[in-house]
Amino acid sequence: MEVVILAAGKGTRMHSALPKVLHPIGGRPMLLRVLDTAVSLSPDAIHVVVGVGAEQAIALAEEAYPHAGINWVTQQEQLGTGHAVRAALPGLKQSDADDNSVLVLFGDVPLISRSTLQQVIDHCGPEQVSLLTTRASVPEGFGRIIRNRDGDVAAIVEERDASAEQKRINEVNSGIMAIPALRLRAWLDALDTGNDQGEYYLTDIVAMAHADEVRIRATVVDETEVIGVNNKSQLAYLERHYQMGIANTLLEQGVTLLDPARLDVRGDVDCGRDVQIDVNVVLEGQVRLGDGVSVGANCVIKDSTIGAGTKILAGTHIEGAEIGKATSIGPMARLRPGTVLGDGCKIGNFVETKNAVIGQGSKANHLAYIGDAVIGDDCNIGAGAVFCNYDGANKHQTTLGDHVFVGSNSVLIAPVTLEDNAFVAAGSSVSSDVPAGSLAVARVKQRNVPGWKRPRKK
Ligand code: UD1
Ligand code: CA
Repeated sequence: MEVVILAAGKGTRMHSALPKVLHPIGGRPMLLRVLDTAVSLSPDAIHVVVGVGAEQAIALAEEAYPHAGINWVTQQEQLGTGHAVRAALPGLKQSDADDNSVLVLFGDVPLISRSTLQQVIDHCGPEQVSLLTTRASVPEGFGRIIRNRDGDVAAIVEERDASAEQKRINEVNSGIMAIPALRLRAWLDALDTGNDQGEYYLTDIVAMAHADEVRIRATVVDETEVIGVNNKSQLAYLERHYQMGIANTLLEQGVTLLDPARLDVRGDVDCGRDVQIDVNVVLEGQVRLGDGVSVGANCVIKDSTIGAGTKILAGTHIEGAEIGKATSIGPMARLRPGTVLGDGCKIGNFVETKNAVIGQGSKANHLAYIGDAVIGDDCNIGAGAVFCNYDGANKHQTTLGDHVFVGSNSVLIAPVTLEDNAFVAAGSSVSSDVPAGSLAVARVKQRNVPGWKRPRKK
C-alpha cells in the first residue's frame, strides 16, 4: 500500500498568503495531521503532491518527519485531483504484486482517523475500489455519491455538474479512496476535462470502475471525521469540533473543566487527578499538570510541567517552565523559558521570570523582574526588585544563597552574588557581592532641607 496525499491546491477560498494545508487545527498544520495518520499506517511509500507554497510545506514536513523518506511531487499547474494523482504516478514503487493499493488522502481533510483508513484499505482489492463517504448535514459543495437501483455506487458527481435531483442526495464523497494500483494508470489516462470546472476529476474514475465491473465499496463514516476545509468558516468549525473532542477526553479522564467550550489545547496535555481548569485557558505544546493543580481563568501555559497541588491564578502566562509542588503563581504573572521553581514558592502579580532557578519556599510577591538568576531556598524578593541581567550586549547572572532578603525597589546589577542570609535595604543598587549575613545599603543618604521653598511658576 502506498499513500498519495493531495496538497497542491491554491486554497483560494481561504484568502490567505499561507498555503491552505498549512493552516493549523489544534495548533498543528493540517498537512502534518494527515501525515501523522499516514505514517501510522506504515505504508510502503508516502507521496505528497504539492504546488502553491511547496517549499514551506516541504520544510515543515521534513522537519516533523526527517526519516519518512517522503516523495515530494510538484504539480506545476493545478488541473484537478485526477491530474494531481497522475503527477504522482511515476514515483509509485513498481510492484508485481497485483494486490497493491493506492490510498489517496487530502491535505485539507485533517481529522481522518487511522482506524477508518485501515477499513478503507481493507476494503480495497484487485477488483474493488474502496471509497469513504458520509451523510452530510449540509451536502453543498461536495461530490454526490450516485448509487444504482441495487444500491451499488455507480459514480460521483461534483456539485457544479449535478442535476437538481442529484443535488438532493446527501451522501457525499470524502475525497478519500483506495484504488487497486494495477487499474489506476488506465483510469487516470482516460480522464478528461468535460466538466464545469474544466479539470481532471479523480472522482470520475468511480464511473469508469463501475463500467469495468470493478466493485465499489463505500464505507460511510460520521461527517465530522471527513469534513474538509475550504474556507475559514470550515476551519473554525473543525477547530471547535476538534477542541470539543479533546475537552471530552479530559472530562472522561476526570479533569474538571468549568466550561469545556472555553479550553483550547494546541498540543498534548497530560493531567493528574483532581485537576481543575477555569475558563479561557490555552494549553500549548507539551503540558503536564500534576495532581490537584488548578488553573485560573485566562491562563496560557506552553511546554511546561506543573507540580502537584500548585495553583496558577488568573491571567498567568507560563512558557518553558518547570514548576514544583504546592506553589502559587499569579494572578497575572509571566514565567518565561528556563524558569525552574521549587516547591512551595510564590510568584505574585506582575512578576516576570526568565532563566531563573528558584529554590523552595522562595517568594516574589509583586512587580519584579528576575532574569538569569539562581536563587536559594526561602528568599524574599520585594516589590519592584529588578535583576539587571543585560548590559546592552551580554547577559550576566545573579546568584542568591538561602534566606536572602531583597528589599523593595532594589536593583541587583549582574554579575553579583548575595550569600546566605544577606539583606538588601529597600531602594538599593547592588553592584558588588554581599557576604553572608550582611546588610547591603546602597542608596543615596537622605537629606532633609527645612523650610524648603517650592519653585514658582514664571
Ligand atoms: C473534492 C472532491 C469532492 C469531495 C471533496 C471532499 C474531486 C473532483 N472532488 O472537492 O468530490 O466531496 O473534495 O472534501 O476530487 N488538489 C491538488 N491538485 C489539484 C487540485 C486539488 O493537489 O489540482 C488537492 C487540494 O490541495 C486539496 C484536495 O486536492 O487538498 C481537494 O481539492 P479541492 O479543490 O479542495 O476539492 P473539492 O472541491 O473540495
Ligand atoms: Ca476540499
